[in-house]
Amino acid sequence: MRTYQSSGSQWMVLLLMGLGLVNAHTVIVYPGYRGNNLHTNGTVEETNGLGVAMSSNGTNNSLVYPYGQQWIYPCGGMPTSTNRTKWPVGGGAVSFQPGWFQGHATAFIYINLGLGTVPENMSHPMISPFQINGPSNEPYPGTVCLPQVPLPANISVSPGDHATIQLVETAKHGAALYNCVDIEFAEPEDVAEVTRDNCFNSTHITFSQIFASTSLTSDARRETFSTPFPAVVAALAGALTMTMLML
Ligand SMILES: *[C@@H]1O[C@H](CO)[C@@H](O)[C@H](O)[C@H]1NC(C)=O
Ligand SMILES: *[C@@H]1O[C@H](CO)[C@@H](O)[C@H](O)[C@H]1NC(C)=O
Ligand SMILES: *[C@@H]1O[C@H](CO)[C@@H](O)[C@H](O)[C@H]1NC(C)=O
Ligand SMILES: *[C@@H]1O[C@H](CO)[C@@H](O)[C@H](O)[C@H]1NC(C)=O
Ligand SMILES: *[C@@H]1O[C@H](CO)[C@@H](O)[C@H](O)[C@H]1NC(C)=O
Ligand SMILES: *[C@@H]1O[C@H](CO)[C@@H](O)[C@H](O)[C@H]1NC(C)=O
Ligand SMILES: *[C@@H]1O[C@H](CO)[C@@H](O)[C@H](O)[C@H]1NC(C)=O
Repeated sequence: MRTYQSSGSQWMVLLLMGLGLVNAHTVIVYPGYRGNNLHTNGTVEETNGLGVAMSSNGTNNSLVYPYGQQWIYPCGGMPTSTNRTKWPVGGGAVSFQPGWFQGHATAFIYINLGLGTVPENMSHPMISPFQINGPSNEPYPGTVCLPQVPLPANISVSPGDHATIQLVETAKHGAALYNCVDIEFAEPEDVAEVTRDNCFNSTHITFSQIFASTSLTSDARRETFSTPFPAVVAALAGALTMTMLML
């Protein structure tokens, strides 16, 4: 079992704040993400308004994302990765930073599962969508931790199976940010530990249920920390380092 000494999430918040990152985005703190996709490059003139296009500059064949990479379905412009995090066969923790939602005090959150090594779709919801409320329209750093996200209804998996967890954050204008982490299912005892130190809710982000829903009784958010608290953070140290290097 791998452990992580310091409070990684808090550290990430401080790190990103220090770098003055103010665009809307998400960071999946646990179980990690495919890689740093907090990039915006190129211009909307260059892509003629497309969210992603080949750069027309010079001879380099390279994509540009003038609105920001995370707005691209299904995984924010990141291809399937090979560094998979072990995640419990019966469901486990997901922790994320909803980001600097400048001008957006609220957002909806979705967490979906895609099955297989290269998922055909991300169409298996794991939780009922819910709303997060920031303290104001100012950018708000903070962390959300769902300690026990279950598998989608009627899906069962075995240790060694591959899947991808997709986090979607829709802004109040309806556009969505995408982020993913590739996982390999494992027995809970083979998964690194999640604790209250590395998976916690910031006090200044509150939650609202989305009503007109029949799914309130199957709401994952009612779950509490289980013991042993499944999961974290081998990936976290790596993710933090990469973020620091790439920003
Ligand atoms: C996977 O590797 C990328 C690139 O090194 C890194 O940014 C990312 O954090 C890693 N993800 C996990 C879950 O380890
Ligand atoms: C491409 O060239 C245009 C015009 O010179 C420039 O504004 C833009 O930033 C360049 N894009 C990249 C990705 O270098
Ligand atoms: C093409 O790629 C090279 C090497 O990465 C870089 O030095 C150069 O600036 C790039 N040119 C353009 C027009 O993007
Ligand atoms: C734009 O950013 C993407 C994502 O980081 C990168 O893959 C691509 O090479 C960049 N394009 C240019 C022209 O720099
Ligand atoms: C999504 O992919 C799964 C396989 O992972 C498949 O069984 C299912 O039919 C697909 N659903 C849609 C809506 O395409
Ligand atoms: C799960 O399977 C049961 C039995 O086949 C079915 O009644 C139910 O509608 C399924 N639930 C979902 C969410 O697909
Ligand atoms: C964070 O808040 C959500 C929504 O109320 C809740 O489901 C979850 O259990 C909380 N996380 C922790 C670590 O208490």
